[in-house]
Amino acid sequence: MIALLSRLFSRREPVLSEATPQDAAAIAKLHAASFNRGWSEDEIDRLMLERNVLTHRATVNGRLVGFIISRIAAGEAEILSVAVATSYRRKGLARRMLNLHMGRLAGSGTRVLFLEVDEGNAAACQLYRRAGFREAGRREGYYTMADGKRATALVLRRDLT
Ligand SMILES: CC(C)(COP(=O)(O)OP(=O)(O)OC[C@H]1O[C@@H](n2cnc3c(N)ncnc32)[C@H](O)[C@@H]1OP(=O)(O)O)[C@@H](O)C(=O)NCCC(=O)NCCS
Repeated sequence: MIALLSRLFSRREPVLSEATPQDAAAIAKLHAASFNRGWSEDEIDRLMLERNVLTHRATVNGRLVGFIISRIAAGEAEILSVAVATSYRRKGLARRMLNLHMGRLAGSGTRVLFLEVDEGNAAACQLYRRAGFREAGRREGYYTMADGKRATALVLRRDLT
């Protein structure tokens, strides 16, 4: 009965907030589950300790289910990575994280946001296009996929002002 009540009242809706280096292990785990080449906890920890790096996280009952991370320089920023845990995908969570992230970047003076994405990554391309990103360049054969094939990177841009 108690277990049932605690399940009923436990929060299932992801809560968004700024991440800290203490989230590095959970971010590394989600990154490794989401991309062919993972980042180590140490790489993420060092990245997050940089003063010009902004990271947001989505948690459910304290468990990390999404993150987005950018590096800022001279009024511009680049999204380095974004991922959502598989069981939370296609529920608008990446869109919510991206909107919060762009709002914070704009609020702290970032005027333009860039990123690179595999043109075959339908989910990511749709996410960015719906958020107003436009193609600023193409890098043919830029990525090497798990099967050894090459894929094109799109450089996308979004003005924040
Ligand atoms: C890309 C990713 C972050 C999207 O997260 P998400 O929370 O599922 O995205 P959302 O639910 O906010 O959806 C955003 C848009 O993308 C669309 N979308 C999401 N998954 C899709 C898919 N598999 N195929 C086509 N469109 C998709 C949604 O329909 C939505 O578009 P809409 O506004 O027109 O309805 C997630 O799929 C992921 O973690 N992928 C692995 C890591 C990755 O590829 N990151 C991007 C690297 S650049």
